[in-house]
Amino acid sequence: METNSVSKLRFLFFMCVLFVGCDLIQCSVTYDKKAIVINGQRRILISGSIHYPRSTPEMWEDLITKAKNGGLDVIDTYVFWNVHEPSPGNYNFEGRYDLVRFIKTVQKVGLYVHLRIGPYVCAEWNFGGFPVWLKYVPGISFRTDNGPFKVKMHRFTEKIVQMMKNEKLFQSQGGPIILSQIENEYGAQSKSLGAAGHSYVNWAARMAVGLATGVPWVMCKEDDAPDPIINTCNGFYCDYFTPNKPYKPKLWTESWSGWFTEFGGPIYQRPVEDLAFGVARFIQSGGSYFNYYMYHGGTNFGRSAGGPFITTSYDYDAPIDEYGLIREPKYSHLKDLHEAIKQCEAALVSSDPVVKPLGTYEQAHVFSSGRTCAAFLSNYHSNSAARVTFNGRHYDLPAWSISILPDCKTDVFNTARVRTKPSAAQMLPSNSKFLSWETYDEDVNSLEESSRISGSGLKEQISVTRDTSDYLWYITSVDISSSESSLRGGHKPSINVHSEGDAVHVFVNGQFVGSAFGTMERRSFTFNGPVNLHAGTNKIALLSIAAGLPNVGFRYETWKTGISGVSIQGLDHGQKDLTWQRWSYQVGLKGEAMNLVSPIKVSSVDWVRESLATQNQPQLKWHKAYFNAPDGNEPLALDLGSMGKGQVWINGQSIGRYWMVYAKGQCNSCNYAGTYRPAKCQLGCEQPTQRWYHVPRSWLKPTKNLIVVFEELGGNPWKISLVKRTIH
Ligand code: GAL
Repeated sequence: METNSVSKLRFLFFMCVLFVGCDLIQCSVTYDKKAIVINGQRRILISGSIHYPRSTPEMWEDLITKAKNGGLDVIDTYVFWNVHEPSPGNYNFEGRYDLVRFIKTVQKVGLYVHLRIGPYVCAEWNFGGFPVWLKYVPGISFRTDNGPFKVKMHRFTEKIVQMMKNEKLFQSQGGPIILSQIENEYGAQSKSLGAAGHSYVNWAARMAVGLATGVPWVMCKEDDAPDPIINTCNGFYCDYFTPNKPYKPKLWTESWSGWFTEFGGPIYQRPVEDLAFGVARFIQSGGSYFNYYMYHGGTNFGRSAGGPFITTSYDYDAPIDEYGLIREPKYSHLKDLHEAIKQCEAALVSSDPVVKPLGTYEQAHVFSSGRTCAAFLSNYHSNSAARVTFNGRHYDLPAWSISILPDCKTDVFNTARVRTKPSAAQMLPSNSKFLSWETYDEDVNSLEESSRISGSGLKEQISVTRDTSDYLWYITSVDISSSESSLRGGHKPSINVHSEGDAVHVFVNGQFVGSAFGTMERRSFTFNGPVNLHAGTNKIALLSIAAGLPNVGFRYETWKTGISGVSIQGLDHGQKDLTWQRWSYQVGLKGEAMNLVSPIKVSSVDWVRESLATQNQPQLKWHKAYFNAPDGNEPLALDLGSMGKGQVWINGQSIGRYWMVYAKGQCNSCNYAGTYRPAKCQLGCEQPTQRWYHVPRSWLKPTKNLIVVFEELGGNPWKISLVKRTIH
């Protein structure tokens, strides 16, 4: 006869199997000091970041399959709160934002998921992933021990977890999610905030654990991550890292495979020899999980780029390029590395490394237990190769490299010996033509007439736009006396405009005066230029531009954007400060309000055939044309080399912001050996940072596709072309 408690247990067990479709051992994820333990087994796990909104659902399966073939076990993604909850309580999980579909695609391909909910994500994503409305919740302060913030963060995190549970996506339910992240790199902010930071971390940990996902939680770059949360490392190297408790495994959530780009900067590359060296160093020092940030970077479509001035391309020099094509030799060299590491798995998970010096710069890390033995032979010298002797055999190690010996004898892989040739990516002409451009001038003359917002003093930009547009017009006027000497050939006055970010185009009496731009590092700037003023009232209109909201920095949600000071200088009485007078505002462009980009809405403006258009206002022009989809199935891009700065849409979908600003940098030759920093390997100096813009094939129909461009500076649309990305 069974005792009562045994039969109770049996019943519970049976119910579990019934509900989740798998038993407790089969569907468990735990951890110990060595590794993540899945279904009772310690695992060496290889992961790569692919962010679902940075590609299209049509691309997902191919990207994930390529990741699997590249030797990955796990796909890592952030969850992007601002795309999912565009206004409080209104949710969007459609199209590129279909998180469940993305995770189910990973499951279908047969990989695991690390779901980094954040909901702060950084990620070079607009506002670090926070919805802009969150900033205007009364009494809120982000990422600290603040009631209103904690309520909203809890609600969103719980919503995501519940969605995953409803779809049975956690491994504890038989699904692919084996790990989740709460917060993101909170360490620095926590230190600056002191006690409030500390109590917030503890709250976030309790809140997350309380959601009972059945899989472990991590916090990256947060040394104080409370139990049972695992603190993890992010960086170019993480071998030096130790978790905060001896019973936690050593995990690396961001192994940076390259780096992001900003308009005006060069392209940063990371040589695969060094990336592989970094990974091998991590594994030989006892690490058991690493994630490439990014494995596929993709595209910051629409206004999703953070910033300011993060480029639309988020290529990241990743193993899969922006367009979804394999980048060699990065992809195959890492695939070989992964195979070599997997051959060592049994030894790696069952023993700690014993380190033996083999020379001044050379070491062996040996993992052996019972019948398994694996060794990593390293040469840390950054410019000379070495011959070492290990267990009576000789091994040649190139500079700054590690050889992997899965049986402690055979060198199956060396991080610096690359066997695959580099792939050459080309942008080839397509057979698609843009027919008959038409144009429409954005109105700069009758601005204040339609304005409903006005007041004394200059307003902060985002408080007015709520980020519904990049653009905000600041409009006022200045009266000039007929006795001013400049009116009779005297020295011209000038206009001085100070902005907190990110760019401005200055118009006086409908005439373009000039533009000025901040940078990602220095958002604020001052414009100063001579102006033609006439006697009487002069109209001043400043088009201020937010080029992606900041995504990182201490209390970045409080940073200001837009015009903060305006004066006219060089008048007979000196300067006239306009800062505190009456200003009117227009949120966004007229063309945006009229939805000129829409392919279905019959346009309410008279587009003019470009050939007939007057050229009196080269700035702020809308252009449109139609085209047929090119043949073939190669990925596509717009070549915007002839344009200036603006945004572009195809069939109503925003391709993103463009800017042909030239890259400043130091593009010297790049040596893989020696400690990597992005500045070491720069490319593309003195060329536009980003000339090509990804057009997903799935956004095109066979014929009559609409392209609409808003051009700020006077670029020439007739030279725009659609090109095919090929690799050989
Ligand atoms: C990390 C951050 C990521 C990303 C990365 C740079 O510090 O966690 O979200 O911003 O830097 O690409």
